[in-house]
Amino acid sequence: MSTLKISEGAVKDDTLVLGLVSTNDKGGIAIESGDLAIDSKTLLVSLADLGATGAVDEVIKMPGTSVRLLVFTGLGKKANTYSHETLRRAAGAASRSLAGTNSATFALPSSNIQSLSAVAEGAALGAYVFSEFRGSTKSEHKVALKTITIYSNSAKQVDAKAAISRAKILADYTFLVRDLINTPPSHLTPDSFTKKLTFAFKAAGGLKAGLRISILDEKALKAQGFGGIIGVGQGSANPPRLLHISYTPKTPIKKRFAFVGKGITFDTGGLALKPALGMEAMKSDMSGAAAVCAATLAIAALKLPVAIETWAPLAENMPSDKATRPSDIITIYGGKTIEVLNPDAEGRLVLADALVKAQASKNKLDGIIDVATLTGAQVVALGTRTSAVMTNNDEFSSRFLAAAATSGEQFWPMPLPIELRASLDSPVADMANVGDRSGGMLVAGLFLKEFINPELPWLHLDIAGPAFNTAKAHGYTPVGGTGIALRSLVTLAEGI
Ligand code: BES
Ligand code: MN
Ligand code: ZN
Repeated sequence: MSTLKISEGAVKDDTLVLGLVSTNDKGGIAIESGDLAIDSKTLLVSLADLGATGAVDEVIKMPGTSVRLLVFTGLGKKANTYSHETLRRAAGAASRSLAGTNSATFALPSSNIQSLSAVAEGAALGAYVFSEFRGSTKSEHKVALKTITIYSNSAKQVDAKAAISRAKILADYTFLVRDLINTPPSHLTPDSFTKKLTFAFKAAGGLKAGLRISILDEKALKAQGFGGIIGVGQGSANPPRLLHISYTPKTPIKKRFAFVGKGITFDTGGLALKPALGMEAMKSDMSGAAAVCAATLAIAALKLPVAIETWAPLAENMPSDKATRPSDIITIYGGKTIEVLNPDAEGRLVLADALVKAQASKNKLDGIIDVATLTGAQVVALGTRTSAVMTNNDEFSSRFLAAAATSGEQFWPMPLPIELRASLDSPVADMANVGDRSGGMLVAGLFLKEFINPELPWLHLDIAGPAFNTAKAHGYTPVGGTGIALRSLVTLAEGI
């Protein structure tokens, strides 16, 4: 996205986005234009003729008089205030529908700073198009809406301006996550992931911004005993990496968190080869790594007083004569041995290495959060739009869930039932990498828990379904990589 602005006074754009609501059960509609006064009478007649209902996800376009194009985006039932997520989605649906347009002004209900933020976030997040790999069809393909102006009477206020620049940061780094996810494994290997992040690290101000980046290659990983990352990556011609990004604020540090993200650049299942149908979606198996890395850069851009240590174990899970075999035993960083019964349960192996490493930091952590497209069982349990949160600390989890709700990301708490733990026992090693099939998401969580210091507040976020949208675009969410978890992580850090 190029530009996000806030303005009052006369509308200068050719395109104006307004809210539309339903006022009763008989098809009554009304326009919600926030701080912009409009004469709605004739517009409502035309809208009724067009069959407009004001329903959520409805976007209706109409020629205007003072502006060339009017875009009405549904907010659902008329209310005194609209939920932030309703505003975010309505703004996003409109801006998604405006691909190919240069600029648009959004006049939507935004009476306070939070709703203003929501409109700005939604409008910005919806203006995303991934066209990097289009060749001969590139010119036929519409580019994302370029310049977004949020209409508000508080345009000159400092907090309104701050809300706009925050929304821009959230959108920019969400786009980084989406771009990384959408980039195919032919162009995104563990090594090229680290290169793309090095580029983003520099663009974010690098050392001057309090950021640091370092990368362990396969030789260093082997020498230092990262048996999980090596074991998963050894079947591939594209060797594994461990990426480390840290952010240290210039201001006094209020809290210190570690983020760990699963970075499987492609998950074939290894020797437990996945069926061909749907395997292409496994290019998204690095969504957790992308989310935690981009969230760290976003937290730095916002100059939050929270120190972050982020670890992204990166590997490609491939079958080959070098690949880990079912029954192989690997040694996780720190010494725990794992019998790999199923090489398709690879995420937990790379995460285990990184979680142990993250806790070996000389600085005392206040919490650790891992983010992973970890199990198909997550999708079975919660569907494709709700992610799971597992924890050893309900207070930490409650704070995260509140941050997620504020940011408009759907997360739901899941238990870690102790009785499922025994299913991970191995007759030959400290633990097996798979256990009971039923409750598979929870079993994966219990596996990770074995690598967490019980004193340290920990969250495990399973984003398997929500990370990658294989259905239709909706609200501000495009098809493909969604960028889920980034806004919740940033909002959590803001609340410290
Ligand atoms: N990357 C997958 C999980 C996944 C599935 C993510 C669907 C997104 C959508 C993970 O590595 C995996 O293969 N998990 C196995 C674990 C099983 C072998 C215990 C699964 O869920 O089937
Ligand atoms: Mn797998
Ligand atoms: Zn995987």
